[in-house]
Amino acid sequence: MEVVILPGGKPIAALAADAIEALLRRKPDAVLGLATGSSPLPVYEELAQRHERGGLDFSRVRAFTLDEYVGLPAGHPEAYREVIRREFTDRVNISPDNVRGPDGQAADIPAACRTYEDAIRDAGGVDLQLLGLGTDGHIGFNEPGSSLASRTRIKTLIEQTRRDNARFFGSLAEVPHHVLTQGLGTILEARHVILIATGAQKAQAVRDLAEGPVAAICPASVLQLHPHATVLLDEAAASSLRLADFYRHSYDGKPRWQGL
Ligand code: GLP
Repeated sequence: MEVVILPGGKPIAALAADAIEALLRRKPDAVLGLATGSSPLPVYEELAQRHERGGLDFSRVRAFTLDEYVGLPAGHPEAYREVIRREFTDRVNISPDNVRGPDGQAADIPAACRTYEDAIRDAGGVDLQLLGLGTDGHIGFNEPGSSLASRTRIKTLIEQTRRDNARFFGSLAEVPHHVLTQGLGTILEARHVILIATGAQKAQAVRDLAEGPVAAICPASVLQLHPHATVLLDEAAASSLRLADFYRHSYDGKPRWQGL
């Protein structure tokens, strides 16, 4: 796992966008894994600008979202399908047909989850997966206690996550209790994972994920088993790390040709 500590959201977004741009230049039909939440928004903004100003081309890109609420009506502004469309895919030239997410309205949820896993596999797997981090250490909607080998499935949200996400809804009562999420085993199969965490409220989860034991109590800690995981942090999110100075030292001395 590579931990990179940067001065703030903008340089984090630029670095993540650099990695995505390099991937698209190498592989124009790359498969991107998209995350919701506020952490990846500056990356989407940066990519939209690179598309607009520099012609960064997404025409052959395929994208899969991480998770979805169960039971929100089609077109609900907080359905992750809508959030991703509004914040990112409508702003670049990805064909809407090439953007998929777990179907939170399916009558047969287990079948919809299997279909989603099949679709990711049929696309050749995810090349680069963006991730945020819940304050309880979740990635996607894999709450503490999730199987480290899990696949796309239905999960129940912990109250802390519902409270964290209530800011996007009118009230806590409107936040669904159930969600569909790619599993930790699914996420581990992405070829490169970039997790972004900013703010002091993430500091403990960041420490648990990078320096704690690999354990279901902090689902993101499973990324310690990933061969190519990058963790991009601002100073506040990095403030509880024991090895912060070492991470800074390694990144400062890293040959830039390596990229992320
Ligand atoms: C939600 C999403 C996660 C995201 C998390 C953190 O729970 N399902 O994918 O990582 O929020 O969100 P934020 O980046 O807004 O802190």
